[in-house]
Amino acid sequence: MSVQRGAAASAGAAGALFPMDKMIIRGGVPLRGSVALSGSKNACLPIMMASVLTDEPLVIRDVPRLRDVRTAMELLTGLGVAARWTGDHEVELNARHLHSHDAPYELVKTMRASFVALGPLLARCGRARVSTPGGCAIGARPVNLHIAGIRALGARIQLRNGYVEAHAATLTGARIWLDNPSVGATENIMMAAVRARGITVIENAAREPEVQDLARLLRAMGAQIEGAGTHVIEIEGVERLHGAEHSVIPDRIEAGSLMVAAVITGGDLVIKGAPLDQLDAVIAKLIETGAEITVANGDLRVARNRPLMPVELRTLPYPGFPTDLQAQMMALLTQAAGTSVITETIFENRFMHAQELLRMGADIVMKGPTAIVRGPAHLTGAPVMATDLRASMSLILAGLAADNTTEVSRVYHLDRGYEALDQKLRAVGAQIERAPE
Ligand code: UD1
Repeated sequence: MSVQRGAAASAGAAGALFPMDKMIIRGGVPLRGSVALSGSKNACLPIMMASVLTDEPLVIRDVPRLRDVRTAMELLTGLGVAARWTGDHEVELNARHLHSHDAPYELVKTMRASFVALGPLLARCGRARVSTPGGCAIGARPVNLHIAGIRALGARIQLRNGYVEAHAATLTGARIWLDNPSVGATENIMMAAVRARGITVIENAAREPEVQDLARLLRAMGAQIEGAGTHVIEIEGVERLHGAEHSVIPDRIEAGSLMVAAVITGGDLVIKGAPLDQLDAVIAKLIETGAEITVANGDLRVARNRPLMPVELRTLPYPGFPTDLQAQMMALLTQAAGTSVITETIFENRFMHAQELLRMGADIVMKGPTAIVRGPAHLTGAPVMATDLRASMSLILAGLAADNTTEVSRVYHLDRGYEALDQKLRAVGAQIERAPE
C-alpha cells in the first residue's frame, strides 16, 4: 500500500509542474537509424549541487533538459544560487550570494537526489537543513549511510520535523566504511570531505561512472580526490574550491534503454556517443538474448534478426547490471522464447511495471526479489500507467512491441529522466505521439 501512496504523492507535485500527458504508441515498427544520447541525469544532479561549494561560477555543459534538472535549479535558486541556462544544454550556477542552507520537503520529496545537497551545504555554511526524502515508489531507500558518513566527519546531526539538521564549525577527515556501496552516500560524503580538515577515506565506495564524473568536476574545482571508480576513495580536504567548466558524461541508462528498443522491435539502431566502457554488463546480456552488437567509428550499433533467447539476470552495483535497466529488460524478456529469471538485488519493490506488463499479456510470476518471465508472450496494446521513471520506459518499450495501440499515462515520470524521448523515437521510425491526458 505504501507504494500506492508514494506514487500518488509525487503525482500531485508533478502535476503542478508538468502537464498531465500520455504517450500513444502504435507498436510493431522495427526502429532504424541513428540516435544521439543526452547528458547523464544521475551525473548531472550531484554536479549541480557541487556549485554550492564555491563562490565562483560553475559552467556545466551537456545538461539534459529534464524535470529533475528543473527541480535541481529550483532547489539551488531557493538557496540563493544564481542559476540560468546559457545555452541549449549549458547551465551556469553561481553560489556567490548563497543565503540559505535549507532544502525543503516540497523539492526533496519529488527528487530524492536533492538529499546530496546536505554535504556541500554543510561544507560551505557550517550547517545544513535538508528534508529527508520520505517514501519512494521503488522501496524504502533510507539515508542512514549518508548521515553516518557526515557524522563521522564531525558534524552534529539531529532529525527534527522530518528534516536532517547538521552543524559543524569545521569538518575533519575520517575513515568511513559504507555498509553497502550507496551512490548517493558516496557523493554526499565526497562533497562534505573536499573542504574538511585532513584526509577522508571512503571504503566500499560506489564505483558508478556518475561518482567518477562528480570527482572529475570536484578536481577541476581544486579538490584533491583519488580512487573514484574504485572501492576506496581518498580525499584530502582543501581550504577553498574555485569555479570550473565541466561537460557531463552521456547517459548510460538512456543508452541501455535505446539498445533495448532496437532489440525488442527487431530493428537496427546506431547509438551515437554511447559510453561503451560503461555498458559491458548490458552489452553482454543483450548479446545473450540474441542481439547483434558492433562498434563502428566509436558508435554502438544494435540490431536483431533472430528470435530472442531467455536469460538470467541479476541487478548489481556497478560494474554489474544496473537496476535502472531492470524494468526495460523485463519488457524485452517477455518476448524471449523460454523462461527468464530476473533478480533485483538493489531495491525491494522494484517490480511495479510487471503488473502493467501483465495487463498487456505478459506472463510474469514474482517471488520476492525474483521475477520469472515466460515468453514469447503476445503483447497487445492497453491503457497502462507509469509508476516510476524506469517503469515508464519499460511500458513504452512493451508498447513498441505490442499489437495495436498502447497508451502510457503519467508521463511526467518519464520526463524526470528521458529528454525528448518521443522525438528521438519518432526520428527512428517509432509511431509515438504525446497527447494531453
Ligand atoms: C542512485 C541513482 C538511481 C539508481 C541507484 C542505484 C541517482 C540520482 N540515482 O540512487 O537511479 O537506481 O543509485 O544504482 O544517482 N541505501 C541504504 N542507506 C543509505 C543509502 C542507500 O541502505 O543511506 C541502500 C538503498 O536502499 C539501496 C542501495 O543502498 O538498497 C543502493 O542505493 P543508492 O546507491 O544509495 O541509490 P541512490 O543514490 O539513491
